[in-house]
Amino acid sequence: MPSSSALHDPVLSNEWFAVATSHDVVDAPKKVTVLGEDVVLWRSLSGLHAFKDLCIHRGTALSLGQVDKNELICAYHGWRFNGDGQCVAIPAQPADMTIPTKAKATRYHVQEKYGLIWVNLGDGAQPLPSYPDAEDASMRMVICGPYHVNAAAPRVIENFLDVSHLMWVHEGLLGVPSHAEIPDYRVHEQNGELVSDTIQIYQPDPDGRGKVVNNDYVYKVLSSLTASFRKTDSSSSDVFSMMLHAAPNAARETTAYAVLCRNYAHDMDDRTFIEFQNKVFAQDEAILVSQRPEELPLDLQQELHLKSDRLAIAYRQYLQSRGVTLGTS
Ligand code: FES
Ligand code: CO
Repeated sequence: MPSSSALHDPVLSNEWFAVATSHDVVDAPKKVTVLGEDVVLWRSLSGLHAFKDLCIHRGTALSLGQVDKNELICAYHGWRFNGDGQCVAIPAQPADMTIPTKAKATRYHVQEKYGLIWVNLGDGAQPLPSYPDAEDASMRMVICGPYHVNAAAPRVIENFLDVSHLMWVHEGLLGVPSHAEIPDYRVHEQNGELVSDTIQIYQPDPDGRGKVVNNDYVYKVLSSLTASFRKTDSSSSDVFSMMLHAAPNAARETTAYAVLCRNYAHDMDDRTFIEFQNKVFAQDEAILVSQRPEELPLDLQQELHLKSDRLAIAYRQYLQSRGVTLGTS
């Protein structure tokens, strides 16, 4: 039986969503909400598990319970569930009585990658978004977020792909209005991803190292709600990349994570990068919560598109071709 609160989107239901960082789930169960579905994450001696956050006995949230070695114990009457979701002990009944076969938790697919915990409410068959920089030993990785924003997830990803806002919304941080013109570029489809040409953007001092450069950005769309960019410049071998992932809690409510990778300044305090990103995201949030319609219009006759919006246009077409309905109009 589908949950009454789960949001119906057959496409997104089979995608992976990052719902927590690996550090968030240690000893205690953690509740998260993805696509309107409440999920409990817990870690046993044998690994990580994701269950529907509901005990079959009386509908209590399993996330109120506790973990004991390989079992999750419900807070209400102490039923014990193993990692397979099977109830293995019911304290209120005599120990020699069989446990009803219906006494089970609903399991979801779960895995850890890029420092994040990913849940799949569907068949789990799709691969995770591919972000090789996070697995490159020469890169230092930092996770930013969670960022909770009252906006549709596709709007959040489109904002990330929007090159012509950098000089306005992030003036002085990621661009300057005197260098607002965007050179023409194209977007290609490659192995199921969207990839942009290199786009040059003048940035005064993006990470406080006093470096003023023309940065070369290459953007990618990795999945319906995951995108990345990789930034290099001709004057050095510095590489900075970011993957932004937006998990819909509800149609107009999103939790996003940003994974940052850099091959330079490994000794620089990670806090500097996190605080910079927090500031940038707060600037974007003010725009995102103001956008109407709240859902991203996939019909290109709606809103107005320029050449500089080629990434947004390609992204809207990509969502349309995949058949994503949640957070779109
Ligand atoms: Fe979970 Fe009774 S509600 S054990
Ligand atoms: Co922005």
